[in-house]
Amino acid sequence: MQGKHILLGVTGGIAAYKSADLVRRLRERGAEVQVAMTPAAREFVGPITFQALSGRPVRIDLWDSAAEAAMGHIELARWAELVLIAPASADFLARLAGGKADDLLSTLCLATEAPIAVAPAMNRIMWGNAATAANVALLRQRGVHVLGPAEGAQACGEVGEGRMLEPQDLADRLAELLPRDGPLRGRRVLITAGPTRERIDPVRFISNRSSGKMGFAVAQAAREAGAEVVLVSGPVALPTPHGVRRVDVESAQAMLEAVQREIAQANIFISTAAVADYRPASPAEQKIKKTSDRLHLDMERTVDVLATVAARPERPFVVGFAAETESVEQNARGKLLNKNLDMIAANEVGHTKGFDCEDNHLVVLWRNARQDLGSGPKLALARELVRLIAESYTASLTGARHLDTVRA
Ligand code: CTP
Repeated sequence: MQGKHILLGVTGGIAAYKSADLVRRLRERGAEVQVAMTPAAREFVGPITFQALSGRPVRIDLWDSAAEAAMGHIELARWAELVLIAPASADFLARLAGGKADDLLSTLCLATEAPIAVAPAMNRIMWGNAATAANVALLRQRGVHVLGPAEGAQACGEVGEGRMLEPQDLADRLAELLPRDGPLRGRRVLITAGPTRERIDPVRFISNRSSGKMGFAVAQAAREAGAEVVLVSGPVALPTPHGVRRVDVESAQAMLEAVQREIAQANIFISTAAVADYRPASPAEQKIKKTSDRLHLDMERTVDVLATVAARPERPFVVGFAAETESVEQNARGKLLNKNLDMIAANEVGHTKGFDCEDNHLVVLWRNARQDLGSGPKLALARELVRLIAESYTASLTGARHLDTVRA
């Protein structure tokens, strides 16, 4: 965190006293911390405390002409490399979700391009309220990182979910969110992962055995390599890697739409998802009854997400995966050419291989070259793969075309 600019927003909640300690933790790690408080936060902790700990005057009022003359609020929004709101009250979350700019802190959040994280802190019933849940879901969808809350005893005497994370924990998580050094620093990587579900009727679907583990490992590895990572995931039971923005989808169509929303910003697209190739042509509105001995489902093709991205006029660097049960390399090479990809990672799947296991075996193919990454844990393979992607992508920018021509 050495020298990193962190804007700490403190809103009105009893957990504000913990934020004073948080300032110390961040400063210990070398960060520069600028505190901005809402007027309500001042009712809990005085600005002098934050000023003494951060070494900078605290900003509270949008209309403070002396502070604005020193560093205007737009300048301050640009200064921030990361914004953390801790504690984030239910009211502030609602205002952030509503795009309000009626006080200094909400204006800063609207005016910054830095990643925003919130550490909610409130009574457990307020946290469980449908309005708060909807606001938090919307914020997550927009890429806000939601840290916590934790469970435990609350200041109001109740026990439950809603406590702010401890300062040490928050500082650790923040370190994960800061822009990182690495071969993909400053690059945006969009990744799809997991299976999709195609609806048969309101209670049934068709899916596949993909666990999402390989795609989540690739997302973690890309983040470790310094990239800003967006992970579009089908239904899986995996935690989101730290610092990665995740968008959850169900069907192939929803995955396509989510990818289309994000693709213009992506430098690299990695398609690890096991997208359904077919879906029921007309899903039943009501649960299908077992009235006959046989049931025939009429299926139609889904759109190929990867091929759609690769066919864009302004396309990113495109990496596919090939899941094969036979003639692995030959089939993968066919997909590399037919879908017009820059690279493809081939793996054998089925029975005890590839899908839903901890280990994998990957062979990476370019148009004129191949590299066998061997077998191993998915994260180790993902790191190797990301190293190759970064090399190949960089070579493509410097006019060396892709690594295939360099190697060939
Ligand atoms: N893919 C996709 N959208 C689809 C189908 C596949 O984006 N509707 C992507 C996968 O994420 C993968 C690549 O295409 O990166 C190859 O997927 P795979 O399932 O191996 O092959 P398919 O193209 O579906 O062809 P087949 O099932 O005939 O092998």
